[in-house]
Amino acid sequence: MKKPTVTLTDNRSGKSYEYAILEGTRGPSAVDIRTFFADTGMFTYDPGYTSTASCTSKITFIDGAKGELRYRGIPIETLATQHSYLETCYLLLNEHLPNSRELQNFDLEIRHRAYIHESLRLLFDAFPNNAHPMATLSAAVTALASFHKEHLTLDDAADYHTMASRLLAKIPTIAAFAYRHSLGIPLIQPDIDLSFTKNFLTMMRAYPGGKMHLGSNGHEEIREVEVRALDTIFTLHADHEQNASTTVVRGVASTGAHPYVAIAAGISALWGRAHGGANESVIAQLEMIGSADRVETFIARAKDPDDDFRLMGFGHRVYKNFDPRAKILKRLQDELKEELGLNSRLMEIAGRIEEIALSDEYFVSRNLYPNIDFYTGIILTALQIPKNMFTPIFVIGRTVGWITQWIEFKKDPTSKIARPRQLYTGA
Ligand code: SDX
Repeated sequence: MKKPTVTLTDNRSGKSYEYAILEGTRGPSAVDIRTFFADTGMFTYDPGYTSTASCTSKITFIDGAKGELRYRGIPIETLATQHSYLETCYLLLNEHLPNSRELQNFDLEIRHRAYIHESLRLLFDAFPNNAHPMATLSAAVTALASFHKEHLTLDDAADYHTMASRLLAKIPTIAAFAYRHSLGIPLIQPDIDLSFTKNFLTMMRAYPGGKMHLGSNGHEEIREVEVRALDTIFTLHADHEQNASTTVVRGVASTGAHPYVAIAAGISALWGRAHGGANESVIAQLEMIGSADRVETFIARAKDPDDDFRLMGFGHRVYKNFDPRAKILKRLQDELKEELGLNSRLMEIAGRIEEIALSDEYFVSRNLYPNIDFYTGIILTALQIPKNMFTPIFVIGRTVGWITQWIEFKKDPTSKIARPRQLYTGA
């Protein structure tokens, strides 16, 4: 059978160039243009990489048309409803779900690694109280590289496992410390008797001595329904193929820098409101709109090409259908509305935006649907997570994806330093 190829012809010289078509196990094929510049003396042009595959990967699969997402081949709906976030972390890192013994050992290791060096704790004092926790988080993860220089030379699977587990375990502690420092209140150390997600909520909400402050929901204890909701949110954020921040992580991996500074770079990239920073902007936008009857005014602004106002939480480079994670979160919102005391006013405004946008030609013609960020904020608000901690929550969920992608890059014998070219239009 003929090898699948595409042929490009330059109509100036009549010369033709043939390139192999590479088939994946799922999704679109790719044209192998690695010799294109050597063959033609020309570059391909694709700012924003709308049509570019930067690597091969076995980690996450997204079908934008169908609104499908799989981690290691398992549908996100299965993982979000039948497995914990730690099981999903294990799956991403080890390519299979853990059995009970593997999960128990992994859970125990993560609990014991949740503590950070006392010197690293001093870093928080260098930041002003009003520092955004994303700034502190990125700085602290960079600093962590100084405490674990040995991860610069990783020789075998055990080294990768230790490097990954250490960071997964410490990120929630660093995030919670950044938050408490921003309030000027004492830090709450991790508690090895608590599960990953309950431990994070406790470090966020407990008073010294372990008592919970009486939250707006009138409950002193952290309830299992809250832990399950946040655990699901972490799972939904765990990985997402070659998104902007993962591309940055792989770029830093390609220069041979320390894995933790690659993750710190990913944290910085995620902060932007076009990416992970959108979840914080969605709530700010819902609060700014203020009531359902003002939604149409803002929809008109979102459609106005001369107005740079965008509907935060809408649109996606890959999903041209509902973001499957958004569907799961919407269901979670409806299920937990009463139990978590979700803000019905914000839900009403969000519902009105969705109702109008999903029938309006501007959004329909551009395949603009709600994405994951459109729904997370209302649930996080009910969990007493403040807006400026929404993107750090995204970081906690996504760290396992970044680390897994970093390891895959390092293990790929064909990987090269990321060094794109340009179409020069200067003097
Ligand atoms: C995440 O990549 C990932 O996987 C990311 C992520 C992950 O898990 O890692 O899924 C997480 O980042 C989700 C996205 C969160 N960002 C937002 O919600 C911010 C609002 N969304 C937009 O900024 C935008 O939709 C992007 C950035 C998400 C996608 O941008 P694209 O793919 O480059 O699309 P585009 O900017 O070229 O827009 C296409 C058209 C344009 O109109 P025209 O020029 O064709 O007339 O759609 C319009 C845009 O103006 N458009 C919007 C819009 N998003 C796109 N118009 C109004 N409101 C919006 N939200």
